[in-house]
Amino acid sequence: MISFHEGVFRLSTNTTSYWFRITRFGHLEHIYYGALLKDQPIEGLLLKHTAMVGTSVAYDQSDTLYSLDTLSLEWSGIGRGDYRHSPAELKMPDGSFTSDFLYRSHRVIDGAVEMETLPCSYDDSGECKTLEISLEDESNAAVLQLYYTVYENCDVITRRAVLRNGNEKPLVIRRLMSMMVDLPNRGFKMITFDGGWIKEAHRHERPVEYGMYVNSSTTGASSNRHNPGFLLAESHVSEDCGSVYGFNLVYSGNHYGAVERSNQDLVRVQLGINPHCFEWTLNQGEKFETPEAVMTFSTGGYNGMSRNFHDFINRHIVRGDWKGKERPVLINNWEAYFFKFTQGKLLRLARRARRLGVEMFVLDDGWFGKRNNDNAGLGDYNVNRKKLPRGMAHFSQRIERLGLKFGLWFEPEMVNPDSDLYRAHEEYAISIPGKKPVMGRNQLVLDLCNPEVRDYIVSSVSNILDESRISYVKWDMNRHIGDAYSACIGGQGEFFHRYILGLYDILTRIFRPRPHILLESCSSGGNRFDLGMLCFSPQVWSSDDTDPVERLKIQAGLSYLYPLSSMGAHVSSAPHQQTLRETPISTRFNVSCFGCLGYELDLKYLGYVQKREIKRQIAFYKEHRKTFQYGRFYRIESPKSNKVVWQCVSDDKSEAVAGLFQTIASAGEGYDYLPVKGLDPETAYRFQTKPQSLFIKRFGDLIKHVFPIELNPDGLILRTVNKLYAMADCVEEYEAHGDMLAAGIRLNNQFIGSHFNDKVRLLGDFGSNLYIIKKAG
Ligand code: GLA
Repeated sequence: MISFHEGVFRLSTNTTSYWFRITRFGHLEHIYYGALLKDQPIEGLLLKHTAMVGTSVAYDQSDTLYSLDTLSLEWSGIGRGDYRHSPAELKMPDGSFTSDFLYRSHRVIDGAVEMETLPCSYDDSGECKTLEISLEDESNAAVLQLYYTVYENCDVITRRAVLRNGNEKPLVIRRLMSMMVDLPNRGFKMITFDGGWIKEAHRHERPVEYGMYVNSSTTGASSNRHNPGFLLAESHVSEDCGSVYGFNLVYSGNHYGAVERSNQDLVRVQLGINPHCFEWTLNQGEKFETPEAVMTFSTGGYNGMSRNFHDFINRHIVRGDWKGKERPVLINNWEAYFFKFTQGKLLRLARRARRLGVEMFVLDDGWFGKRNNDNAGLGDYNVNRKKLPRGMAHFSQRIERLGLKFGLWFEPEMVNPDSDLYRAHEEYAISIPGKKPVMGRNQLVLDLCNPEVRDYIVSSVSNILDESRISYVKWDMNRHIGDAYSACIGGQGEFFHRYILGLYDILTRIFRPRPHILLESCSSGGNRFDLGMLCFSPQVWSSDDTDPVERLKIQAGLSYLYPLSSMGAHVSSAPHQQTLRETPISTRFNVSCFGCLGYELDLKYLGYVQKREIKRQIAFYKEHRKTFQYGRFYRIESPKSNKVVWQCVSDDKSEAVAGLFQTIASAGEGYDYLPVKGLDPETAYRFQTKPQSLFIKRFGDLIKHVFPIELNPDGLILRTVNKLYAMADCVEEYEAHGDMLAAGIRLNNQFIGSHFNDKVRLLGDFGSNLYIIKKAG
């Protein structure tokens, strides 16, 4: 896994190799990262320096061909000849910005090495080793340790850096990345996952040209603007073929990822804490830990790269009782009632949900203080007795007596000026002395750098958790940080990082002693969907946008970096609250089941057939939940731009589930075919459409063509029929071996207006079908 021979480090996973060496001057020269190589001499792979590039600076006059600028490096400083962007901008004890870290020693450690300040990956199966390399800038007595942890079975290598100051004069860190590496340009494109509120993680790509592209956040969180994870892919890569590198960061604050193509066609990749507003002083004997960066490589295209990330997260990031466990189907009252609810209303919703097969009831915002709208109450976690007259313990017992688990929403990092907490402790909120703070959603951010604030949050949340029967917590965070300032820290350049350290401290203190609680992190949806939060919360609310057509983009984007077991996905009402789009309930479910399924709508006004449909959906989901949440996920490329195809295969290949989604229908749709990947080619399977209902309402005025009598399409009779009667959607059934399934099943015609019978697939705009493929016999 890790070897060292004649100055060369060889790190290998099942299918990848990562090699670098110590140069004659003591720098770490990157040699290779890619598909697994046999041990062999490195000369063929080394960059050749047989001519000095004009204007470049030689590191040492004894070798004028040795210029740091033209080397492929594992780490680089400033001021010694490398003019690309450095991973470290340090004001050194000698007062200069020049740093030059040279190899001193190394050791190999079994397992992963924990950090003192930050969460990181871990290993409980003996499948990893860590290489620790110590470098020194001798004249400044500064030591830099680089850690490489090799997760052999997931084809992942993580990297991070720790800087120590041994000098009696201080060292000021203005930028310290977790990793950097120089790769030879292979015609890369860079893929990022960007967006904003209700449009998180949309995939974007661009060619890697000369210069630098930065993927970063400055909001105080990992952000919905740019997820910290990004990819570098060769230009011809498809979902299943071609070389792709994936990078991500175990961090929830301001991140920074940069890809810089140099004039020598080397591509420098860096990842770490955003240097924006960052400054950290190290006095003698002090150290600074950077968050852990995660790297993977696959020749199996984007799906291959995603598979590595998914395995790594499920095995080495998610921890505690919920690791690898199937997640409950929940109902959340937020989109049903927002702030307007009573205990009676909640219990009725819970009862109806229970009858449909839901397993957990989640009480969202509005249960505490004077929180009847978003102007007041944040900070006061005392139960609103007008809404829940006998308190939370009583209410949670009532829910449990219905046969449901109980979950509760909090937004502990925030305070409304109209709250008892703020009136008593104005100083708990972040603000700059003498300046009126900026507001977001009528709220201020609590100063998590302040230990007293952290104690308040830990005790107020823990009290509720311990007095009631709580199995799940939704931890929300609904605004970006402004006026970054804390009276409790040395310098304000520490603020953003100390805020996140404060958050991790709070989460550790509340949830580590209560491992039975399933934590779902949320930040106005996916504003903090990152590996740092996943170290505490096994799942994250993907987006406030529950429109299934929008979710096709959001969940697909997230799936490049994160497993389906980490994505909260709910069925809500249509027309949708943000897009006004009317979508069939089948599609809302068919998209949500590729994740951790929940429902978030008022069940009261649903007719008999709609409720029956939901009941069947939940039963189906429970039957295949393991495959959906933990199976191997594939994004299947479709030749048609109005189709999205997803699929999951169980670990033992005994079953697969596939979803075919149509966005905007086009007239006269041609044939569709559905490839099912990853099954055993020798095994016979039964392929069947999941039965689903077609509601009369969908046909509107067209219904008159099939009814013997003329009926008002918007009249009482048809409205009533719509609640009581639904038609069955087309079901197809075939027997096929895994090899034929991989080639693709040709599906029945779609409805095009000229013919209709039970063998016609009726998709239209936003229609979809699920298919279940099971081992025959
Ligand atoms: C945020 C969350 C929602 C809901 C509301 C409650 O927007 O993302 O799911 O919890 O807050 O105020």
